[in-house]
Amino acid sequence: MRTHYNNELTIKNLNQTVTLNGWVSKARNLGSLLFVDLRDRFGITQLTFHEKSVYELATTLKNEYVIEVTGKVIERQSKNPNMVTGEIEVLVDSLTILSEAKQTPIIINDTNNVLEETRLKYRYLDLRGSKQQQYLIKRHEITQAVRKVLVEKGFYELETPFLGKSTPEGARDYLVPSRVHPSKFYALPQSPQMYKQLFMVAGFEKYFQFAKCFRDEDLRADRQPEFTQIDIEASFVNENDIMSFVEEMLRRTFKEVLNINIETPFLKMPYEHAISKYGSDKPDMRFEMLIEDYTNIFKSVDVPFFNNEEHISGIIASNSSSFTRKKIDELTNLVKKNHGKALAFIKNTNNEYTGSIAKFLNEDTFNKLNLKDNEILFLVPGNYDDVKNSLGALRIEVAKELDIIDNNSYKFLWVTDWPLLEFDLETNRYYAKHHPFTAPKTIEELRDTPKEAIARAYDVVLNGYELGGGSIRIHQQAMQDLMFKTLGFTEQEIKEQFGFFVDALSYGTPPHGGIALGLDRLTMLMTKTENIRDVVAFPKTQNARDLMMDAPSFVTDLQLNELHISVAKEDKKDEKK
Ligand code: AMO
Repeated sequence: MRTHYNNELTIKNLNQTVTLNGWVSKARNLGSLLFVDLRDRFGITQLTFHEKSVYELATTLKNEYVIEVTGKVIERQSKNPNMVTGEIEVLVDSLTILSEAKQTPIIINDTNNVLEETRLKYRYLDLRGSKQQQYLIKRHEITQAVRKVLVEKGFYELETPFLGKSTPEGARDYLVPSRVHPSKFYALPQSPQMYKQLFMVAGFEKYFQFAKCFRDEDLRADRQPEFTQIDIEASFVNENDIMSFVEEMLRRTFKEVLNINIETPFLKMPYEHAISKYGSDKPDMRFEMLIEDYTNIFKSVDVPFFNNEEHISGIIASNSSSFTRKKIDELTNLVKKNHGKALAFIKNTNNEYTGSIAKFLNEDTFNKLNLKDNEILFLVPGNYDDVKNSLGALRIEVAKELDIIDNNSYKFLWVTDWPLLEFDLETNRYYAKHHPFTAPKTIEELRDTPKEAIARAYDVVLNGYELGGGSIRIHQQAMQDLMFKTLGFTEQEIKEQFGFFVDALSYGTPPHGGIALGLDRLTMLMTKTENIRDVVAFPKTQNARDLMMDAPSFVTDLQLNELHISVAKEDKKDEKK
């Protein structure tokens, strides 16, 4: 229909007759002259309606009408140097209204003060704005760049089913009732973990997929109930093969999409070190401020808060004067929210020591603390895990307060040497820290000292976010069996839940491993938004609702009957309130 896009016409096209399509972005009527900004996906072109034959119809144009115009490119009187098409306008001699538009509930390209709920309800209008379009265009570019590298490296793009049996990935499943098999349910995949390993058993050797995953878990700013993984698996590989390949994939994607050179190889950091020095298994490496152990220094000092505490760690921040009483109260709340017992602090101002525990300390202790002028030391006492975890949260907040995080830098690292298992006191059993298919460093560790066993697992972390996680897998049936047993599964349960999988391992399985990176998270970080919903076309809210479609929703009794499901009457009533 059109001869040009709306970002194309310049002074070079003067006097050409052109046909354009698009949406009315703005219309200004100056009496006998009417101007319209015509918008399409590519840009904006100014139209002028002056000719009698079109002027009348043009006065009926409203924002978001879809039109087609034909006219001549002329030079503008008042030029706009900020627009590609700012030197010209199109003097229209033919106008067709292709589609009228009601008044839109949100103004396109002016949504800063609009509630997110309204934007999500009218997501198709929200997405018409250039800011939201840019997020999805970047997502497209990232997807293409990743696909290109993977295909080039010989990976096959293969699909796996949605209707299956879930993998124990740690979240609750989304279940789908079967009509044909009364009382039975499929589970939507939390990830295609078992399927991709079965591709390795089948001999494909290199697989990838942009895999949709479904997890019914508490949502956060970086989580959606359904999300997309760049899911990868390969045979005859070790940890270093996977890591260097992922580094190359990310390096080329960042270059292609953002024209940014990221440094490879990434830093590798054992899990224990990440917890000890950064208080997190996904450390933000854009700033230092390491957590240090102060337990020994305070062993011989009588500080009431610290007596009988197993461990004391702390961080030192510069610019102590920015930490007012009010700010320190906020930080104390943050520490407590993260299970830290208390927050103590000591400031050095011109060699004068003040702060919540200064009065309990002597010269010798001050010297050991080695605080420079204008520095502040934050200390948390308690058990090791809670101390580190709460200081990890504090470290981030203090860095934000001091404004020392460089938002333009991308700091990647690998967190390695994860514990294989986690012991849960409440249920009195082990859980797999990654998933039950992850190989231990040695089978002896798994057999004899499971608590201390280290996994052949790795997470790729970017700017404090877990971007991806993977591992080398167990490929021998006996080891997989032992793993399930260590996790507390009975022989019967293993057979029922994983029988087909354990059996498959016994028909000649190559050593294999893989990883999955969150495509939504990667896009979020590459587009510098902190809200995962920005980079998902039709996202769910924090409480897992689709406001546009109004899902989830009730279904008819007929549908329920076919599925052999009955819904409690009270639930229906409650929902309707
Ligand atoms: P894991 O559970 O670590 O590993 O998930 C891999 C990556 O997927 C992303 N992710 C999410 N993104 C958005 N919303 C969510 N709710 C969500 N949950 C996870 C993260 C995460 O790093 N099968 C294994 C991978 C493997 O072992 O190969 C797996 O799923 O970016």
